[in-house]
Amino acid sequence: MNVSGEATKSVWILDAELPAAPRLERDERCDVAVVGAGIAGISIAYELLLAGRNVVLVDRGPLLGGMTSRTTAHLAPICDDGLSELVKVRGEKLARRYQESQQAAVDRIEKHVKDLGIDCDFRRLDGFLFPAAWMDEEEAAKQCDQEYAAAGKVGAAVEHCKGVPLKGHKSAPVLRYPNQATFHPLKYLRAILADFENRGGKAFAGSAVIEIEEGDELRLRIGSGATITSDHAVFATNSPINTVVAVHSKMAPYRTYAMAFELSKGALPDALYWDMDDPYYYVRLNPGADIDYLIAGGRDHKSGEADDGEARFDALEAWVRALVPELGDETARWSGQVLETIDYCGCIGRSPGSSNVFIATGDSGQGMTHGALAGLLIRDLIVDGSNQWEPVYAPNRKPPSALANYVSENLTLVKNFTEYLLPGEIKSIDDLKVGEGGILRDGLSKLAVCRDRDGKVHMHSASCTHLGCSVHWNSTEQCWDCPCHGSQFAPDGSVLNGPALQPLPQRPS
Ligand code: FES
Repeated sequence: MNVSGEATKSVWILDAELPAAPRLERDERCDVAVVGAGIAGISIAYELLLAGRNVVLVDRGPLLGGMTSRTTAHLAPICDDGLSELVKVRGEKLARRYQESQQAAVDRIEKHVKDLGIDCDFRRLDGFLFPAAWMDEEEAAKQCDQEYAAAGKVGAAVEHCKGVPLKGHKSAPVLRYPNQATFHPLKYLRAILADFENRGGKAFAGSAVIEIEEGDELRLRIGSGATITSDHAVFATNSPINTVVAVHSKMAPYRTYAMAFELSKGALPDALYWDMDDPYYYVRLNPGADIDYLIAGGRDHKSGEADDGEARFDALEAWVRALVPELGDETARWSGQVLETIDYCGCIGRSPGSSNVFIATGDSGQGMTHGALAGLLIRDLIVDGSNQWEPVYAPNRKPPSALANYVSENLTLVKNFTEYLLPGEIKSIDDLKVGEGGILRDGLSKLAVCRDRDGKVHMHSASCTHLGCSVHWNSTEQCWDCPCHGSQFAPDGSVLNGPALQPLPQRPS
């Protein structure tokens, strides 16, 4: 029976097994408890261990089984939303520090790869910004000029070029960003985890935190009944589970789509390619033994605001086949969730109002660099009390001139609550085919009802256990998405992704 949610599998998962780890069954005492075993949590745990701290790492699911396994492994220090936007929103000084910190994150990954001899396809390569399909040459040249000028302001290397080896763009105005990077994220992180454990770090899977008691000494209660007591705690979950609104009101969850295809070796030069659309489409390669795998991504939308994954995959495939006509068979398709902040920078640092609790969230489509950077930043905050990049990422920073964004992102919450006044989406359970879900009215409340891929009907309250927004069915991933702050629930109601800590309450079917 599919009660796990997350029905698709990424190219990385098909290629590398997730590391095995025990459940936490006995109480633990440590210097730092790290919650969330994706790239941010593992990097933070590892850097703190290297700095001499005693660290326990836990995850509600398998280690590396969350959004890190669904990345497309972009190790580009260039701001995902465009450097000109970044400069506009954060100002030149902070944008420069952002750029410097993102470059440092890639350098840090490269150092670990070299020091530990990790075989993870890490390589430096060029990144190319090329025109969106609808753009004429004049508009593309204008955007190139704008991004070129912003790169100069933040200290990012860039050059004007003519063309990329994608059909229809052979002589287009493009920008080349040298010294970007990519890698196989699961191979890299498995090796980091192995070294973490060899050095005495402890990692536990299947160990959801269900209660948090803050104070000079922190207590995290695990679903098994065990407790972790620590001096510091770090929440490195996709969406933080310890803050109620202070940080959630500065971010919005988006779903993004990716596909992998076979491609003859050498048919496309190894580089990162992304276009000028908003949200943008992108192409990159994952090298295999005899063949390359091309990864294409895009078609993002706010979580829960669309359930048309198949149509989005079709559009993505049509887009990439037009650019690379020699593309072979599809080998994987998957989706993931990114937390977009209102100013394009992650929220990494002290949890608002706390001195010994830290968070790393708001990946903004750059989870790999933000994750590795979180390792350096939070290590310094815990060990030394400060870090030079703290002002860029401080979770308690005030919304800047992007206030309009701030308001519009939070309208999701208001709009969602008004859904309680609308009719349910389905009239009866009989309306549901296998793999479908919908909202059913039950007096004044609403029920989230789905028929899983084995035909079993599940019925729960549709009210998210975080702050009560109404969940929406995601037929691509066979789970319930909460549009407000990114919680996800499996068909059986269990939590797949925070900030919710508790499952959807069950209703008898
Ligand atoms: Fe906050 Fe659902 S994630 S209300």
